[in-house]
Amino acid sequence: MVISFNEAIAYIKNGLKGISDECDSEAKIIISHLSDTEPNRLRISQPSAERSAIDAVIEERRKGTPLQYIIGRWWFFGLEFLVGEGVLIPRQDTEILVETALTMAEGIKAPRIVDLCSGSGCIAISVAKNLPEAAVTAVEKYDGAYAFLEKNIKGNEADNVIPVKADVCDGPFGEYDIVLSNPPYIPDSDREILSREVLKEPEVALFGGEDGLYFYRVITKKWKTALRNGGKLAFEVGIKEAPLVADIMRQEGFTEIGFACDLLGIERVVFGTVNNV
Ligand SMILES: C[S@@+](CC[C@H](N)C(=O)[O-])C[C@H]1O[C@@H](n2cnc3c(N)ncnc32)[C@H](O)[C@@H]1O
Repeated sequence: MVISFNEAIAYIKNGLKGISDECDSEAKIIISHLSDTEPNRLRISQPSAERSAIDAVIEERRKGTPLQYIIGRWWFFGLEFLVGEGVLIPRQDTEILVETALTMAEGIKAPRIVDLCSGSGCIAISVAKNLPEAAVTAVEKYDGAYAFLEKNIKGNEADNVIPVKADVCDGPFGEYDIVLSNPPYIPDSDREILSREVLKEPEVALFGGEDGLYFYRVITKKWKTALRNGGKLAFEVGIKEAPLVADIMRQEGFTEIGFACDLLGIERVVFGTVNNV
C-alpha cells in the first residue's frame, strides 16, 4: 500500500519511537532512500512510499542495525561515502581531523600525506579532494573495510589517493609530510557501555586494547620515522584520551603539541611536530 509523504513521515516517526533520538531526520532520510530522492529535494518532490518497504526498514532499526548500514551510504565533509557491515560509519567529529590536516598542509606545495587505519577512507578522501596537489596514502588492514575504501576512492574520483592493504603495526613505509590517524581507541573494558548499534560496527574498528591507547603508542613510535624533519602527526582521540596521547607524543620527541576541540568543547584531535635530526 502506497502512502503519501506526510503520512509516511508520521508513520516512520511513530515506528522509531523509543529506538531513535532523531526520529524526524531519520524519517526524512528513510523516505529519501526508499523513493530514491535526494534529501534536499524532499520538500519539493514530496515522494510517496510503499508501507511494506517502510516496515522492513523499521524492523531492521528495531534489531539495532544502524540507519547508515540500511541506506548504504553516509555523508562526511560534504562528500558521500558507501558504508555497510564491515566498515566504521564516518562520524561528524572526525571532520575536525580533516580540518586540522588541511591547516597543516598550508604552505606545502604537494604534500605527502598518509591516513592510517583508513576504514571507509573518509579522512584520506576528504583531504585529497580539498588538496588536489597532495599525494595521499590510505592504509587499511581488514578486507571488509578495504573493499569500501576502494569503492569510495572510485566513487569520489579521488585519483590522488592510493589505497594500501596493510597492518599499520608492520610500518612504516614511505616518507611523508603529514601522518593522520583515527585508530580504534575504545578501551576494551568499555564494551558494556556501548550501544547496540555501535556494537554492530566491526570490533577491529572500535577497540584499542586495555586502556584504548595501543595504536597511539605503536603509530607514534613507528611512524615518526616516516615523517620528514618538521613533519606533523595528528590523531583523533577518544574522550579524556587527549592528555594521555599528548604524553605519548612528547615521550617520542614530538614538540608543538596542540589540541582541537569538537562542538561540545571536548578535545578530539591531538597534533604535534617531529624533530628527526
Ligand atoms: C576507528 S576506525 C577509523 C576508520 C576511518 N578512518 C574513520 O575515521 O571513519 C579504525 C580503522 O582501523 C582499521 N584497523 C584496525 N587495526 C588495524 C591495523 N592493525 N592496521 C590497519 N588498519 C587497522 C579498522 O579496520 C578500522 O577501519
